[in-house]
Amino acid sequence: MTESNGTTTASNADGMPRRSFPVAFIYILNAIIGAALAIPTLIYLLVPPKGRKQSALVDAGDVSQLTPGVPVEMSFQVSRVDGWKALTEKRTAWVVKHTDNTIVAYGPQCTHLGCAYHYEEATKKFICPCHTTYFSIAGEVLSGPAPRPLDRYITKVENNRLMVGALKPVDGSKA
Ligand code: FES
Repeated sequence: MTESNGTTTASNADGMPRRSFPVAFIYILNAIIGAALAIPTLIYLLVPPKGRKQSALVDAGDVSQLTPGVPVEMSFQVSRVDGWKALTEKRTAWVVKHTDNTIVAYGPQCTHLGCAYHYEEATKKFICPCHTTYFSIAGEVLSGPAPRPLDRYITKVENNRLMVGALKPVDGSKA
């Protein structure tokens, strides 16, 4: 084919310049790559993330063998959705069966600055080693800097299984 400026380009059987095919291919490839990058970006920007969602109650274990007045540390798995991620985390609770058979599950962290506390058999108290707060097995602050009683999980007992929900602070702050 001879163009008005005197140059000659090759044509295929349809009369389309031979150069058009690679150019069209590059445009299509660009469009595919652009879409592959744009779609996830648009989803990220336009679809609101799900809030933190924790499943209601989880099975923390058998409580039929607990001895009244003797705290036991129990662990359990919690599944939650944070944004686009589904996470499973290990949690623990100090579980106390009282003499009236009520069961309380305390959060594992001291209410002062969040250190892990433990049960001291000799004194029959919970002690936080960080700044020496003592808590009773009812969760109350006996001495030390902790400003409020131990936090408690929402609990329910079903067929001797302890079902554990969200962790809630207990009112009873020091003035
Ligand atoms: S963190 Fe427990 S007493 Fe300070």
